[in-house]
Amino acid sequence: MCGIFAYLNYLTPKSRLEVLDLLVTGLKRLEYRGYDSTGVAIDSPDSKNIVMVKRTGKVKVLEDAIKEHFSGGEYSEPVMTHIGIAHTRWATHGVPCERNSHPHRSDEGNGFVVVHNGIITNYNDVKTFLAKRGYEFESDTDTEVFAKLVHHLWKTHPTYSFRELVEQAILQVEGAFAIAVKSKHFPGECVASRRSSPLLVAIKTKSRLATDHIPILYGKEIRPHGQTRELPVLPRSDSTSEFMPEEKEVEYFFASDASAVIEHTNRVIYLEDDDVAAVRDGTLSIHRLKKSLDDPHAREITTLKMEIQQIMKGNYDYFMQKEIFEQPDSVVNTMRGRVRFDGNAIVLGGIKDYIPEIKRCRRLMLIGCGTSYHSAVATRQLLEELTELPVIVELASDFLDRNTPIFRDDVCFFISQSGETADTLMALRYCKQRGALIVGITNTVGSSICRESHCGVHINAGPEIGVASTKAYTSQFISLVMFALVMSEDRLSLQQRRLEILQALSNLADQIRKVLKLDSKVQELAKDLYQHKSLLIMGRGYNFATCLEGALKVKELTYMHSEGIMAGELKHGPLALVDDSMPVLMIVLRDPVYVKCMNALQQVTSRKGCPVIICEEGDEETKAFSSRHLEIPRTVDCLQGILTVIPMQLLSYHIAVLRGCDVDCPRNLAKSVTVE
Ligand code: M6R
Repeated sequence: MCGIFAYLNYLTPKSRLEVLDLLVTGLKRLEYRGYDSTGVAIDSPDSKNIVMVKRTGKVKVLEDAIKEHFSGGEYSEPVMTHIGIAHTRWATHGVPCERNSHPHRSDEGNGFVVVHNGIITNYNDVKTFLAKRGYEFESDTDTEVFAKLVHHLWKTHPTYSFRELVEQAILQVEGAFAIAVKSKHFPGECVASRRSSPLLVAIKTKSRLATDHIPILYGKEIRPHGQTRELPVLPRSDSTSEFMPEEKEVEYFFASDASAVIEHTNRVIYLEDDDVAAVRDGTLSIHRLKKSLDDPHAREITTLKMEIQQIMKGNYDYFMQKEIFEQPDSVVNTMRGRVRFDGNAIVLGGIKDYIPEIKRCRRLMLIGCGTSYHSAVATRQLLEELTELPVIVELASDFLDRNTPIFRDDVCFFISQSGETADTLMALRYCKQRGALIVGITNTVGSSICRESHCGVHINAGPEIGVASTKAYTSQFISLVMFALVMSEDRLSLQQRRLEILQALSNLADQIRKVLKLDSKVQELAKDLYQHKSLLIMGRGYNFATCLEGALKVKELTYMHSEGIMAGELKHGPLALVDDSMPVLMIVLRDPVYVKCMNALQQVTSRKGCPVIICEEGDEETKAFSSRHLEIPRTVDCLQGILTVIPMQLLSYHIAVLRGCDVDCPRNLAKSVTVE
């Protein structure tokens, strides 16, 4: 998904080349979000114009183009104050090409340039309005209308400040956006805003900040969006308070997420929908056009705990590989401070006050997309068993399509690694409006889902950079298991079962380490499979989710066809696919559905299928059915899915490498899907 990075130095001398270097590094940190083209804008050497460089493809291509373009000595001269903006684009309106890449400009003179993440849904109306006033468009994007709209407002309201112009413009646009705007008419200033797409401002000063919040300024009135015919304007605000750093020298960063700024500063402000953040003369102000009752008076300056090493690849070739191998630690981090193995007690601080209300609910609904949805499938059976409540799992997009009935006594869980997935966020708002209790399960502090939930569990898996979700899945899984354990704390009849699960949780990290040792064996297996067109993954019960998740990993990373098949459904159709040439992987573990899984295995082998089997260590009887097997340690049935998914993560990873695919950024995909 698109990434925004902007950098403003105030009284902190930096050459334009240094600024470009910062912009490119910022974009590299955002690469994991997925993108197809890039661009930057900085001031020209005489500061009278704005220069832009855009490229299709990777940030590296842009970096090379920048080296070529900005070679003159004039770009090495330090400038006291400057603002540069940069962008990675993931195409929505218009094919990936330089013309459609951001920044987009207002006019031939580059008066205003804009980077944007999201979709302006009424861009056609705005375009028609502007075209009638003589504006000509050079791209197919929705973004360009924003740059031209600001320009139009500047011409018609010449006394307006930069912030006021951007505010007037955002009142006219509908949809989702995060934007950062730079202007040659307002040198050294930057204005940024968001609605439904994430954006943060980071502050860097030499000494500690004297404040931990920034007061919010309010306008007097709000008008409905999208009044493009007459472009009504708001009365100008007379607010005065704003954030002025103690010292004059300051640097500001605007970014789509914290990974892009953490190497510069750990002090960030997460902007809320319709916040307008503006920097002028080194002073940051956050402005809102509308004041609602529950609005706080200030935006907090958050101190990030993330380390730069956490977002670097270390000794691994790919982020995804690193994240797979981090799982022994990430699962422990998910449980840290929550599970007390000595006292068999679990406390989930983020939801503990809501547990009595949750226990009284009509039903639990677990909603997510992709891998996050699979974590719900993986834990549904245990949740049903330990909560004795109806548990419904939903794909967020389908849930919204159906206008699903929701009641005030429903408890709805929204599971999302990024906390920004548009479908999940929309489903959350839908349920919240209908009075349900909203529980967020996310990996991203400060994300929209976090902020909009009544309560929640932060899965603490650490930053996940690879587009393919791995460690977030196992941590989501564990978070839901912990929730089930909390819900059954006072059920006498379930105590034995709870103890069995707690015991298994305490062994989990070591068992994951053991499974990871299968890596070279999985790599050999990948060599057998990578030239095939398809891979069927079969299992049932607690391992059906692994089949779905394994197939998703294979699809997204290797571009091979793969299907997760419920083994109980084999005879109802999929068995027709099986012959001696169709690659099949089957999960057959010693659990209550073992006999049924063995039946499925026999059905496959008697059709000349030669499956790879994932089975328990030392299970000779099952191993006898195939020469290719991966043995995993024995654990309690409801946690098997954590151990069985790891060989699938490794397998998809190795196949992707063998097929020459881009492991961390698979084609057409984005890490954070912030459009519906
Ligand atoms: O950030 P989220 O967990 O909400 O993302 C949901 C899906 O887009 C995500 O899990 C996707 O399926 C993964 N790339 C799969 O590896």
